[in-house]
Amino acid sequence: MQQVNVGIVGLGNVGTGTLAVLTENAAQISLKLGFDLRVSAVCSRSVNTKQLPSSLGGVFRTTDWRELVARPDVDIVAELVGGTTVAQEIVNEAIARKKSVVTANKELMAASGAEIWDRAIAAGINLAMEASVAGGIPIHAVLREGISGDRITAIYGILNGTSNFILTEVEKSGAAFDDVLAEAQRLGYAEADPTADVDGYDARSKLAILAALAFGEKITPSDIYTSGIRRISPMDFQYAHRLGHTIRLLCAARQTPDGLILSVRPSLIPQSTILASVQGAYNAVWVRGHFGEDTFYYGRGAGPNPTGVAVVSDLMRVAREIRSGSPDRVSPFAHPRLGEYKPIPVTLQKSAYYLRFLVNDQPGIIASLSAILAAKNISLDAVLQLPSESKQSLPFVITVEPTSERAIREAVAEMSTLDFLTEAPLALPMEKAL
Ligand SMILES: NC(=O)c1ccc[n+]([C@@H]2O[C@H](COP(=O)([O-])OP(=O)(O)OC[C@H]3O[C@@H](n4cnc5c(N)ncnc54)[C@H](OP(=O)(O)O)[C@@H]3O)[C@@H](O)[C@H]2O)c1
Repeated sequence: MQQVNVGIVGLGNVGTGTLAVLTENAAQISLKLGFDLRVSAVCSRSVNTKQLPSSLGGVFRTTDWRELVARPDVDIVAELVGGTTVAQEIVNEAIARKKSVVTANKELMAASGAEIWDRAIAAGINLAMEASVAGGIPIHAVLREGISGDRITAIYGILNGTSNFILTEVEKSGAAFDDVLAEAQRLGYAEADPTADVDGYDARSKLAILAALAFGEKITPSDIYTSGIRRISPMDFQYAHRLGHTIRLLCAARQTPDGLILSVRPSLIPQSTILASVQGAYNAVWVRGHFGEDTFYYGRGAGPNPTGVAVVSDLMRVAREIRSGSPDRVSPFAHPRLGEYKPIPVTLQKSAYYLRFLVNDQPGIIASLSAILAAKNISLDAVLQLPSESKQSLPFVITVEPTSERAIREAVAEMSTLDFLTEAPLALPMEKAL
């Protein structure tokens, strides 16, 4: 075989970036591989109106992905469509035709990647998914190969660029969440429907994939405790700063004495930690290993070119294996088989907490709240009140010593019934261990 041929389905952000990298960097890629990686076919619903790189002038184009997958001159199918419906059909059909698959699809891989891998291995083909988590950061390669000799004890990540962009804008500008979200939508950083990003579901799929690689367990995304960033306001950053912290949508997977606990939630993290310096749409992953200790990975979490690099690097790896004819495959999940994850409730987790209240000012407020905390055996750490003009909606913060999430939830539920509160308390964990 003189070359390995790629068929690309999906010519949106990632498909366009992948084509740009493949064509503009073709000479370097051939030099590294020792053979050519050639785009033999492309597909999207509107393929006939797409402007392709000039070197692809004569490439086969189709609006029907089945036609592309069936072509004898397609060795690897790149699924860059997204979602779990058509994408699943494309992947199934490619496997049925014994063609390797490269995908950027976190949703599909988080939901059914383990089953897809089982079918891929039975069919003797490969499956690669580097671009599915943290676009431009090669975190799969790190977990699958770079530090696979270690025993991972925790992963912390900022895995959603949109929510990180919004949080850091609220932090910098002091503007309200809704205004910053509207601006992010105008700039193209946030979708018209921002739910998947700001409510944490996108990050949750990514955490499920990373945790599978790191801990060898098949994790159902809906088993991950998830809470989004909609309630975070400029005043929370003011208080967090006063406490030497900032706020990020933190994805965490950690081995505890009770088992593997996973969560995606806004959290206070010390300003001195390297994670706190992750600004704007950037992503980062911090991996803690038993032997190798801490390693940190940072880069663009999305965007056509950074994600295109991840897809092309996967294509190169898969193409090398096709060329070598090796039947051995390293699982994209870093384990030949994943174990069944028995969800461990996040309520078992212990942490210090930040509790923010908005109250209608009156005497005895602190005493009432302290009494509830004391009844749950929660020790108060500090009480903070920054100057405020409003007596009707007065903010203040209580921080508490490490306690269980269960105790905090019970305390917050009880506090929420107090008539001087103008909204339910906001409880955020304070990550002291970072
Ligand atoms: N955007 C990023 O930076 C990023 C980063 C990492 C991972 N990802 C993942 O990469 C995947 C693609 O994302 P994207 O942002 O590139 O999406 P996108 O811009 O919406 O592009 C999707 C492409 O799929 C094509 N398509 C949709 N349905 C099709 C069908 N039935 N047949 C053929 N083509 C079809 C669309 O065709 P038309 O253009 O003709 O409508 C479009 O070209 C998703 O899984 C996403 O989660 C994206």
